[in-house]
Order: sequence, then structure tokens, then C-alpha cells
Amino acid sequence: MSHKIAPSILAADFANLQRDIEMINNSAADWFHIDVMDGVFVPNISFGMPVVSAIKKYANKTLDVHLMIVNPDQFIKTFKKVGANILTVHYEACPHLHRTIQAIKNEGMQAGVSLNPHTPISVLEDVIRDVDVVLIMSVNPGFGGQSFIENTYKKVIQLKDIIEKSGSKALIEIDGGVNAETGAKLLAAGADVLVAGSFVFKSENPTKTIKLLKNL
Ligand code: DX5
Ligand code: ZN
Repeated sequence: MSHKIAPSILAADFANLQRDIEMINNSAADWFHIDVMDGVFVPNISFGMPVVSAIKKYANKTLDVHLMIVNPDQFIKTFKKVGANILTVHYEACPHLHRTIQAIKNEGMQAGVSLNPHTPISVLEDVIRDVDVVLIMSVNPGFGGQSFIENTYKKVIQLKDIIEKSGSKALIEIDGGVNAETGAKLLAAGADVLVAGSFVFKSENPTKTIKLLKNL
């Protein structure tokens, strides 16, 4: 199976969102990566349900919703309603992570768990068979356009090992500072999904840049 590309809407032009959604629809991208931030879990606020709902109206690919919020449990049903296909919560925001994962799956969504750069892979050992996606943060969450943290490669290799040994089917997704160079190294280390914000949307031809990442 070839790897997937998930352009991050955070780097899109919000005044021309429909145009950017159509660009992704007509590109080699696989998923829409959608960053929801609450100003509490991370030091930034992005957008919430009405915007996810608006994206859903035009998007014809999987909506991969990344919740950077405290207490995500209270909003699982709402994100299902506004169109999330994959719902990812942060390990650091979930004291009852196993329950949260089951609640996401009970709503008919795929369940993702994200780890901050300082959180070791080993904390996922006891839930790895229950999750569909592990989202490794390769920057500190909150902002686009930051530089890639090199320690991520080691984490991808460790996660791949845990997944293979456990028989889990989880995909390894990487978020933050992804470009052609870091992307190629991540794929060599075992990544399955690359999120890219600035690298795609700040480029001269985003469609071509998505294709470049897809062909790595
Ligand atoms: C960061 C977000 C990322 C962000 C990535 O908190 O989770 O999805 O959009 O942006 P780039 O690719 O610019 O690092
Ligand atoms: Zn993200």
C-alpha cells in the first residue's frame, strides 16, 4: 500500500476555503487534515465545528480531524455530526484514553491518538491494538510552519516495531515540519501518512507539491 498525504487546512487561505478544498479534491491527496485548537491544550485557537461542517460540504475525501483540546470526550458526538471520519485525540488530554478510543469507534469513526514530542511511544503499548491511527507530533502542537524535530525518526521506528509485534493495524501519521526531505526520511523509517501544511500551501503550485509528496 502506498503512503497517504494529508494537506493541513490550517495553512489554507480561510478567505478562499472553497477554492483550497477543491484544489485538494482534485489533487493526489488522500485526506483533509483538520486542526482544531482550543487555546487551553495548545497556546492557539484555530477554528471549531462550524468550519469543519463547512469543509465537509465540499470535501470529497476523508476528514482527518486532529483535536488539540482538553476534555475531547464531550465533543465526540458533535464531531461525528459535522463530518469527521477519523477523530484524533491527544494522549496528554485523555486520563481515560481507552474509554475515549471506544467512544470514538462507537460513533462509527476511526480512532486516532496523538503524542506530543516529549511523550514516549511506549505509553501506547496497551492500546495499540485498539487504535486506527497514531499521530506523532514532529513539532510542538499549536502552530504551522515550525521546524521538524529530528527525534521523530527514532519514534517512528519504535512505533513500527510495537505495531508489528502486537499485530495492530494502526497507521503511523506524522504532523509538523514535513517537506520533501523530512517526508522521504519518515517514509523510510516506516511512516504511512504525511501531514503537510506550509510546505503545500506556501508553495507556488500546491497541486504539484502534493503530487511530489505522494510520489516520494
Ligand atoms: C500543528 C498542526 C499541524 C500543522 C502542520 O499544531 O497540528 O497539522 O498544520 O503545519 P506545518 O506542515 O506547516 O508544520
Ligand atoms: Zn495537526
